[in-house]
Parts: sequence; C-alpha cells; structure tokens
Amino acid sequence: MTIVTENRTASTTLAFTKLGSKIGAEIRGLDLRGELSADVVAGIRAALNEHKALVFREANILTDEDQVRFAGHFGPLTEAHPTVASVEGAVNVLPVDSENGSANTWHTDVTFVVNPPQASTLRSITVPEYGGETLIASSAAAYQDLPAELRTFADSLWAIHTNDYDYSVPKNLEHANADERRKEFTRQVFETVHPVVRVHPLTGERGLFIGGFAQRLRIVGLSNTESKDIIRILQAYVVRPENVVRVNWEPNQLVLFDNRITQHYAPDNYDGLPRTLNRVTIAGDVPVSIEGKPSQALQGDSSTYSVIAPVR
Ligand SMILES: [Fe+2]
Repeated sequence: MTIVTENRTASTTLAFTKLGSKIGAEIRGLDLRGELSADVVAGIRAALNEHKALVFREANILTDEDQVRFAGHFGPLTEAHPTVASVEGAVNVLPVDSENGSANTWHTDVTFVVNPPQASTLRSITVPEYGGETLIASSAAAYQDLPAELRTFADSLWAIHTNDYDYSVPKNLEHANADERRKEFTRQVFETVHPVVRVHPLTGERGLFIGGFAQRLRIVGLSNTESKDIIRILQAYVVRPENVVRVNWEPNQLVLFDNRITQHYAPDNYDGLPRTLNRVTIAGDVPVSIEGKPSQALQGDSSTYSVIAPVR
C-alpha cells in the first residue's frame, strides 16, 4: 500500500511517498532546476522536518550549479569541507568518489566543528550497476527507542567530536591513497563538545547526536574504553534496521537529509565500480542540549568553513 503524505502550503502540495514509518520519503519528477517558489521551498522544508531524508528521483538537477542553487534555497552554504579540497572551481561542492575510499562508517556530516551543516544534499553523477546505496538513520527514533532510564542518562551526557582519531582499517580493505587522504582530512585538527541529546531547533524533537566523530564522553573519571562502550550502546539504537532507510541511487537523483537529526552510511558493496556523488551542505546553527546549553569548540576555527547560520 502506498501512503501519500501531503505537505500543504499556501498554494503548493507536494506528494511524497513514505519509505518507512520512521524515516524517509520520495517524490518522482519534481523539477528542482532553476528558482523554486517560496511555496515549494516551504513544502520541501515541511517534508524534511517530518521525514528527515527526502529522495528526489528524476529531479532535473544535472550540474553543480543546479545543485548549489537548489541547496541555497534553504540557507547559506558551507564551503565544501573544512579540510578536504572541493571540486575544482566549485568551492561549495565536495566530490564523494569511490576512488577516494568509501564512507562506510555511521556518521553525521562534519560534527567535529561547532556549527555542523543543518542539511546535506547528495547528487548522483556515476551510479554503480549494483550496490552503492546510502543508508540514513533517524536519531530521533533512536532516542524514542531508549528505555526511560537510559534516555535520562543520555540527556545528561556531552561528547567530544574530532576529525583526528584512530580509524585504522585492515590493510586488505585500505584504499591505495589512504595515507594521503588521512593527511588531508586532519591537516587542521578540530575538537568540539556537543550534547549527546540535541534538540532540533525547528521541530523541538530530541535526537542522539553522536556518530563516528564522537570519540569520547566528557565524564571526569571515565576511561576512553568505558566511554566508547557507552557510546556504542547508544549508537546501537540509531542503527536499528527499523530506524534506517536504504536509498538506492539512479541517474539524475538528489537526496536531501536533515543533518541535525540523522546519521548516514555508505556500504562498500559495489566491488570497486565507479561511484560518484557530489555533496553540497547548508550552513547550520550551534547545537543545543535539552537545557538550552550550546556546543563549544575546544580546538580549531571553523569560521571560514561555515557561518553560524540563523535557524531555518
Ligand atoms: Fe557523510
């Protein structure tokens, strides 16, 4: 059965089809090229607030300029990445290319800075014949799934996120230029302390704000191993299959996800076939805890990478 969710704005109704009960919706044939009307933008934002990850098939977004213009409807853009080079000549566009390794760890984009992007767009350029999907998880559903005692415990926690951590990969899985990539990724080190439970500024929903860059909890007296064990238990709720949508890619497709309340993962299941997506991210606000306390930068200045955007 197809369940159609309608987001009514002043004059525009966008009919998204839900992809699961917790996260994800898709629409086919909505032309995203060119200037969008305020009503369409409001309709997409409402759908994003509700579904957290939106898949636009046959989106008519064919160039980096189209993608940058589309993303710009939702706020100021970040640079491509705090440390990694952009697509040549396109400062806001990050190449996500199988030749440079795969993002097969669960993460929320760029959480090692104090102002991570509020949302990310991915556009298909080269799609492998099989595999290469993007998995996106609802961290709000994860929070809801926690037993009440664990939820209260999580509410009190803060975690340190960094881009400089030991992510050793077994040699047989390592890509040829892994050392070079790592050097580029950590050429400037960032560390930020974020609340483990973040309140979404538009919906008020609470979500577990952890993922791959969250390396340790800020609890005096807790060892790194114990800290990782607690994060691992919370993370297990994020990646429950019920909380995850598996998005398959086809040409001319765009995915928009809410980076304030999701995590994602790109399984390395396409045997090295070419896979290229381009990413453009929208500048975010500073996360706040359930008590309204903001995140704090401990190391690294992200102001050239991204403005601290007003909430929208
Ligand atoms: Fe990512």
